[in-house]
Amino acid sequence: MRRSEIGNRQSPIGNSRVLVTGGGGYVGSHVVLALLDAGIATVVLDNFEQGYLDAIAPDAEIVSGDIRNADDVARVFERGPFAAVLHFAGLANVPHSFADPEKCYAANLTGGLNLLAAARRGGVKAFVFSSSAAVYGPPERTPIPEDHPLRPISPYGFTKAAFERVLSDFGAAYGIRSVSLRYFNAAGADPAGRAGERHNPETHIIPIVLQHLRGKRPCIKVFGTDYPTPDGSCIRDYVHVSDLAEAHVLALKALAAGAETASLNLGLGHGYSVREVIATAERATGLKAKVMEEGRREGDPPVLVADSSRAKSVLGWVPRHDSLEAIIADGWRWESQHGQERMA
Ligand SMILES: NC(=O)c1ccc[n+]([C@@H]2O[C@H](COP(=O)([O-])OP(=O)(O)OC[C@H]3O[C@@H](n4cnc5c(N)ncnc54)[C@H](O)[C@@H]3O)[C@@H](O)[C@H]2O)c1
Repeated sequence: MRRSEIGNRQSPIGNSRVLVTGGGGYVGSHVVLALLDAGIATVVLDNFEQGYLDAIAPDAEIVSGDIRNADDVARVFERGPFAAVLHFAGLANVPHSFADPEKCYAANLTGGLNLLAAARRGGVKAFVFSSSAAVYGPPERTPIPEDHPLRPISPYGFTKAAFERVLSDFGAAYGIRSVSLRYFNAAGADPAGRAGERHNPETHIIPIVLQHLRGKRPCIKVFGTDYPTPDGSCIRDYVHVSDLAEAHVLALKALAAGAETASLNLGLGHGYSVREVIATAERATGLKAKVMEEGRREGDPPVLVADSSRAKSVLGWVPRHDSLEAIIADGWRWESQHGQERMA
C-alpha cells in the first residue's frame, strides 16, 4: 500500500500516527506491515544495531536513533503528535543478558524510561509493550495464566517484568494506559513473503533448524534430552509472528476504545518439543537433519505453554496460523528466498 492510500483508508485509531520503536527487527517489522495494512500511519525509530533498514515497509517513515539517548528520542517526538507508541526496541538475547547485564538494563530499562518520559511529555495516552514469557521464570503450573507469580531468572526477564511495573505506575499517575503483550515463542514469517526472521546471532530453534536444512549450519544442537516430557526435549509454545502482529493492532483499537492497562499472554496454548519441531521441518522440506545431543542449558524450563484466554476475551484475538506446519512453511519460504542475503 502506498502512503497516499494509507491516508485514504479509515484508520481504526483516527487520523494521528503511531510511533514504533525497533521496527527494523523481527517482530517490529511484521507489526509495521500490519499497522500499514490497517491504514495506520507509522513512524519507526531504530538504531539498526540488530534490525535492518530494508526490513521496514517502504510506507513507514524512518528515524535512525537510539532510545538510550534522550536527544534522539526527543527528536523523533518532534514528528508527533502520536496517538500511541508501540515499543519493541531492546535487547532480547537471554544469554547475552547474563554476560553483559549493564547493556541489557541500559537498553531495556534506561531506554524504555527515556521513551516513556518523552511519550508522557508528548501527550501520548496509549502504549503497547513487547513483554515476554520470561517474566514468569520457571512455571509452577501450565498452561501459564497471567496471574502466575512473576519470578524472572534472567536479567532479560527481570527487565521485562520491571518495565511492566513502570508502565503500571505511569498509568496510575499520568493516565498512560498500556497493554503489555507477553509473547511466548514468536516464529514464522509474513505469509506474503514481505518480512521474516533474521536475528544475528540466531538463538531461536525454528530458524536454526531451517538454516541447517538449507546447508548453512553443520548440525542442530538439542540442549537437554532428559526432561520430563514425552520425548525428553523441551516443549515451547510457538505463535506465528503475523498473529502476534495482529494482536498489536487489536491492542491499539482496544486502547483507543478506552481499555484499561493489562498484561496479556500471546501463545497458542499448546506446545511442541524440540524434536517435534525438527521432525515437522523435515517433513515440510523433505530433507533430513543431523542432530547433536547436548546437556541441558541453565534456566531452560521443561515446558512453557501460554494460557492466552485473556487476550482472546479482552482483544478478540483469534490466531489464524494455528499450526506448527503453517509456521514452518512460512519460515521455510522466507529462508529459501532470503537466506543467501545474510549471515547465518
Ligand atoms: N522474538 C521473540 O520470540 C520474542 C519473545 C518475547 C519477547 N520478545 C520481545 O519483542 C521485542 C522484539 O523482539 P525481536 O525478536 O523482534 O528482536 P530484534 O532484535 O529482531 O528487534 C529489536 C529491534 O530493536 C532495535 N533496537 C535495539 N536496541 C535499540 C536501541 N537502544 N535503540 C533503538 N533501537 C534499538 C534493534 O536494532 C532491532 O531492530 C523485544 O523487545 C523482545 O524482547 C521477542
